[in-house]
Amino acid sequence: MSVTILAIESSCDETSAAVCRDGQILTNYIAGQAIHEQYGGVVPELASRAHMQHIVPVVDVALKQAGITTKDLDAIAFTQAPGLIGSLLVGTSFAKSLALALDKPLIAVHHMQAHVLANLIADPAPVFPFLCLTVSGGHTQIVLCRSPLDMEVLGETLDDAAGEAFDKSAKLLELPYPGGPLIDRHAKNGDPNRFVFPEPQIPGLNFSFSGLKTSILYFLQEGKRNDPDFVTRNLDDICASIQHRIVTILLHKLGRAAKETGIRDICIAGGVSANSGLRQALTDLGARRGWNTFIPAFQYCTDNAGMIAKTAWYLYQAGKFAPLSISPSARAEWA
Ligand code: KG4
Ligand code: ZN
Repeated sequence: MSVTILAIESSCDETSAAVCRDGQILTNYIAGQAIHEQYGGVVPELASRAHMQHIVPVVDVALKQAGITTKDLDAIAFTQAPGLIGSLLVGTSFAKSLALALDKPLIAVHHMQAHVLANLIADPAPVFPFLCLTVSGGHTQIVLCRSPLDMEVLGETLDDAAGEAFDKSAKLLELPYPGGPLIDRHAKNGDPNRFVFPEPQIPGLNFSFSGLKTSILYFLQEGKRNDPDFVTRNLDDICASIQHRIVTILLHKLGRAAKETGIRDICIAGGVSANSGLRQALTDLGARRGWNTFIPAFQYCTDNAGMIAKTAWYLYQAGKFAPLSISPSARAEWA
């Protein structure tokens, strides 16, 4: 008998619902929230309000796209942690209510584990054990994944996430939020070696991006002192140089993790894995080192319920269900 799971993702500013049957994603519907653009970042209170407006229609569309009704569901999954607490609360309450109404089991999913397992949606998929560099607006982690439910964080950021480094750099360049994709676009026409930003010397497999942000700030102040149009005149080269430094920081640590563990199946995940410089640099490094590299399809890189559904399928098979009394958690502790 086949198993059909509805999954809900609402940890930040994307309301998403997905349906999977026996681990195959039937649909992955994502509604973004444009309202945050004018504020230069995600406003938590507005995010939870938008989730409340979106959640019913988003689930409705996902069920229709999958060609099913709630009667066909065998379990309801949701993102339990980490994320913005008000946003998580909307998805959690919705999932709990539906599970109660349908008398079906509830599955709580850790958002960061789901980002890693997004790599298993594609075919061919990485072989266990594999390494995953998860790079998003909120997190930067190198994860050793031994099996779907056995993961270990080998290193993570001590301050800003890689996506934050992109977005904060973009803000200094007066580009709108989220600036990561815009830096990527300008970088395509720029010289990555024109300006040199320092690489932080952080021990082990951890990352730090706060020093980079400060050095960019001073660099721009100095440039503008000599030429008020410094940024507009050099935007492509500045973006290419910033992107180059963020990518080299990420790949140096990933290369080190691969060397230390001897693992050759190497993945990336999270919103920043959409960055064309990172994708190209990973492919090039992988070719030089003899790695098998994997990057999820774009819809599974940024926040999405498809990855929650995939993870829920493994939890379902392991019999790991959540009680109806479960609460969301903003904290990122690894399950
Ligand atoms: O995974 P995600 O959608 O949401 C979080 O869980 O944070 O990641 C969003 C982050 C933002 O910081 C955004 O600027 C960044 O991913 N991002 C990019 C690109 N596309 C999205 N950063 C650099 N280049 C891109 N092409
Ligand atoms: Zn995420």
